[in-house]
Amino acid sequence: MIKHLRLSNVGPAATMELEFGRRLNLLTGDNGLGKSFLLDIAWWAMTRRWPAEVNCKLTAGKVALPTDKKMGAEIAFSFSAASKTMDDASSFDPRMQGWAVRPGRPANPRLVFYALADGSFAVWDPARNYWRQGNDEGRERPSAYVFSPNEVWDGLQREDGVWLCNGLIRDWAGWQKENGRAFESLTAVLDVLSPSADERIVPGALTRISLDDVRDMPTLKMPYGQEVPVVHASSGMRRIISLAYFLVWCWEEHVKAKALLGEEPDSKTVFLVDEVESHLHPKWQRTVIPALMRVMNTLLSTSDVQLLAVTHSPLIMASVEPFFDRTQDAWFDFDLIDSRVRLEQRQFFRHGDVRSWLVSEAFDMKSGYSLEAERVLEEASVALSDEKFSNADARALDERLRGVLSETDPFWMRWRFVAEKKGWLP
Ligand SMILES: Nc1ncnc2c1ncn2[C@@H]1O[C@H](COP(=O)(O)OP(=O)(O)OP(=O)(O)O)[C@@H](O)[C@H]1O
Ligand SMILES: [Mg+2]
Repeated sequence: MIKHLRLSNVGPAATMELEFGRRLNLLTGDNGLGKSFLLDIAWWAMTRRWPAEVNCKLTAGKVALPTDKKMGAEIAFSFSAASKTMDDASSFDPRMQGWAVRPGRPANPRLVFYALADGSFAVWDPARNYWRQGNDEGRERPSAYVFSPNEVWDGLQREDGVWLCNGLIRDWAGWQKENGRAFESLTAVLDVLSPSADERIVPGALTRISLDDVRDMPTLKMPYGQEVPVVHASSGMRRIISLAYFLVWCWEEHVKAKALLGEEPDSKTVFLVDEVESHLHPKWQRTVIPALMRVMNTLLSTSDVQLLAVTHSPLIMASVEPFFDRTQDAWFDFDLIDSRVRLEQRQFFRHGDVRSWLVSEAFDMKSGYSLEAERVLEEASVALSDEKFSNADARALDERLRGVLSETDPFWMRWRFVAEKKGWLP
């Protein structure tokens, strides 16, 4: 579990500091203020590898570089590792163009999952990415498993051609034929991550989609009666099924690796998810965070999960209201103030509905109207208390209001009441 981060001279702000909640952590803020960057830093702090360094096909998750090259840069971090709390700080080494890490074996953060915004995935598994103390046994093993979006589907190969992962298409088909624990887990996870009670994600029969592709292709049963090959599924569906597959694959491999080591599977997990609502319909946005929290329960039989989720969605914020708990959850908001990026932990309180979230500190919007409507409404609000407003101006404004507001907009009541009193309109 990541506890604390403090950055200086790296990233969009001169300094940044956060104390994470032990369960749910939400990160909001405008584009380009450092949310994904912060997830990369959290991943790096726990695993000491940048995703793009492990897999050069990635276009995200690059090594963090200092802002001012002439000054020292530091990442200080703290996380609870298997046997202790790891408190450490790392400085950027300009000669190495990397972050100096303590020699020897780093602390074991337990399972760390990272779903990046572009559809890439990364996992650090203590059973497979960790080496034995003392004799460096196992040091040649991968330092993490990092998948580009295509590799999640088609498989991940080591440079020498060895397959590290078969990929969603082959594994799903294999699991389905086997009809054992892996397929049971996949079906259960897909069910938990479904958009709603009447739209369940259910695997269909395997099929073939090409004369030239010999792979049996998994399908999904669609509510309109067709079985659609997973590669033809919609973007939202593909995002969710690839996430479900990734989690099940990681867990299956973790359990097998732990069995080989004669150890029990880990029960603590950190899960980093960028743009958690990506491609999801508003209905689905309302269910995805609770589902992600439940999924770990389903898969790992543990509720000891720390989730760091980046979002641009007011529906996500509204969806966590019923269970947000200040003693274990936290909300961090990035803002641009006087041309500087500021990161603040905000007090989470219930806003009740999406519209109130839109105009809250999380999204800093004046309203949920179109920009045109917002401007005309502002002018009309000023006009309502303008003693010298002329009838001609009122008629022109009335015309513009008609052009941007719905007929049932609540503003009409106020507008018409005042207009009638002042004799503005014929
Ligand atoms: N590897 C890096 N090294 C140093 N600074 C970086 C690095 N990656 C990103 N940044 C800084 O972080 C800023 C924000 O990037 P980031 O991708 O985190 O934005 P974001 O908040 O996730 O935006 P969006 O909502 O559009 O995804 C960049 O403009 C850059 O200043
Ligand atoms: Mg981002």
